[in-house]
Amino acid sequence: MRKLIIAIDGPSGAGKGTVARAVASELGYRHVDSGAMYRAIGWKALREGVALDDEAAVAALADASLIVVSNARVLIDSVDVTREIRTPEIDRAAAAVARLPRVRAILVAVQRDLGAGGEIVMEGRDIGTVVFPQADVKIYLDAAPEERARRRAQDPSHSGGPAAVSEVKTLLTERDRSDTTRAVSPLYAAADAIVVDTTRKPVQDVVKEVLEIVKGSGLGARG
Ligand code: C5P
Repeated sequence: MRKLIIAIDGPSGAGKGTVARAVASELGYRHVDSGAMYRAIGWKALREGVALDDEAAVAALADASLIVVSNARVLIDSVDVTREIRTPEIDRAAAAVARLPRVRAILVAVQRDLGAGGEIVMEGRDIGTVVFPQADVKIYLDAAPEERARRRAQDPSHSGGPAAVSEVKTLLTERDRSDTTRAVSPLYAAADAIVVDTTRKPVQDVVKEVLEIVKGSGLGARG
């Protein structure tokens, strides 16, 4: 089996995390949640009182940080922030720092290093378009906004926020707008990505579909 790079992009609540984790586990690959890195930087900037739109200051902070994303845990400078970064406040902070080109350049370099050897499933917003335009498999997961909001509202790893689906939907739509309209690396499906709509699909069906795409890509064979 070749050591593949599998890119999974899409908006929040499309199922990226669950699907990427399951696909990686099935293939014996590493799973990297690139969004967690933007979240960790947003968390640290808030904690240190750095303005989220101060590009030079947030970039300096990112440059001086050690982020480890592995085994479903997220550490920044050895502080475990796995739970703290899943709040509406950090949703906004992550999307804000993700707009800054110098911050993106720093995190993209880290992501490329992590994926250099292949055998990786990386999820995010720009993995198939910017981080690994040469990825072996590119998947773009999408779902209707109502359903994405419902999933997010029910996600036990996302805490501290309003549970009402309508409020979650408003925040999610705001973040979608920020992610799709920003000047650098906006969210969109790469021309060679396979779009999978996960609306009303059980997660195990989506995982199966993605694994079929990986096998069908003809890259699953040894050699
Ligand atoms: O995927 P998640 O919702 O955890 O990502 C948090 C935020 O980080 C997104 O709203 C987006 O602004 C940013 N992000 C990004 N590029 C990535 C992953 C996440 O800009 N590859």
